Amino acid sequence: MVKRVLVTGGTGYIGSHTVVELLEAGYDVVIVDNLSNSERSVLKGIEKITGRRVPFHKADCQDETAMRRIFRQHGFDAVIHFAASKAVGESVEKPLLYYRNNLSSLMNILTLMRECGVPNLVFSSSCTVYGQAEKLPVSERTPRREATSPYGNTKHMCEDIIRDSVAAYPEIRSIALRYFNPIGAHESAEIGELPRGVPNNLIPFVTQTAAGIRPMLSVFGDDYNTPDGSCIRDYINVTDLAKAHVVAVARMTEGRMKAPFEVFNIGTGRGVSTLEVVRTFEKVNNLKLNYKIVGRRAGDIEAVWANPSYANEELGWKAEKSLDETLRSAWKWQQHLDNKKHK
Ligand code: NAD
Ligand code: WQD
Repeated sequence: MVKRVLVTGGTGYIGSHTVVELLEAGYDVVIVDNLSNSERSVLKGIEKITGRRVPFHKADCQDETAMRRIFRQHGFDAVIHFAASKAVGESVEKPLLYYRNNLSSLMNILTLMRECGVPNLVFSSSCTVYGQAEKLPVSERTPRREATSPYGNTKHMCEDIIRDSVAAYPEIRSIALRYFNPIGAHESAEIGELPRGVPNNLIPFVTQTAAGIRPMLSVFGDDYNTPDGSCIRDYINVTDLAKAHVVAVARMTEGRMKAPFEVFNIGTGRGVSTLEVVRTFEKVNNLKLNYKIVGRRAGDIEAVWANPSYANEELGWKAEKSLDETLRSAWKWQQHLDNKKHK
């Protein structure tokens, strides 16, 4: 029987790429999104790539009644819960919005999973839970650090809520995927990241600068204790990341989990500096980027990258796409957006 997966936040950046990979792997998918940080037009992009129209509910995961209706209407085998507010800076200004949205959405999902007999949850966690680790790369056994933002704290708390819930309620189980820095877009350029306003993240800022939407990229700091002085991250292609979710759903629905709550790092295992990103972007797309070095950004950590061997060996998942290919896809997506605007 075809398995049916509820994808919350499914019109968002990572959610939309995951929906495509789920459909291509033969799953049925239902999307719930409140469109607070995405557009309905994403559904068209998904349809163009896959040839399938995905059932969509505009609903808020905080609305337990609406969500109950959706759970009862469809009957799911698994939930992938992406829906959350995710801007670190905004979370400092509006902590209650972040705690309310990210915690109560998750608690509703867990409640309804129990009530409606849906055993499996994949949860979007983040490398933010490691903070600045003492030893690099970080493995799943690296201790989590106290969060430096309300957003980061919600990921920490959500992991704990899931851990405690699966321990108390044997009818549910969960895999938390700790993403490193997802970047790039689907190779078709039909879907990608849609930042609203001035982007916070590096890659959309880079592509918007290359497109002339922003005059200049600021590289935050060149005095870190790294080979070229700029920060180091583990940039993971969004399609590779999406595939990790498909593998996680299969592991759960096929009864291959080794514990009721499992955590995996989803990264490439390669640390790349901000300046290396800039230079690679210029090289693979054959253009010059306007950038300057400025002071450090408050709250930035110096360096983090994953040890992904547990995911490689245990999940059978591995990041495949190169940084070159990924940065080409990011630029192609930006050009697609610009073309659409001028039509
Ligand atoms: P996104 O903002 O593009 O997608 C999230 C989607 O959830 C959006 O479409 C938004 O409209 C929706 N949403 C938010 N609150 C909702 C609610 N209460 N009910 C229904 N829909 C709601 O973000 P993304 O980058 O795709 O991130 C997806 C998940 O991955 C989030 O949980 C995020 O915290 C996590 N994550 C993201 C990154 C990253 O760098 N992008 C890294 C680590 C973890
Ligand atoms: C990457 C690097 C910046 C913008 C954030 C969240 C984290 C996770 C991923 C969700 C850093 C540098 C950036 C710019 C720059 N999200 N940079 N100029 O900070 O690693 O992580 O997104 O869980 O929780 O904190 O990602 O893309 O903002 O920055 O020099 O204009 O690029 O200093 O070194 P970050 P990012």
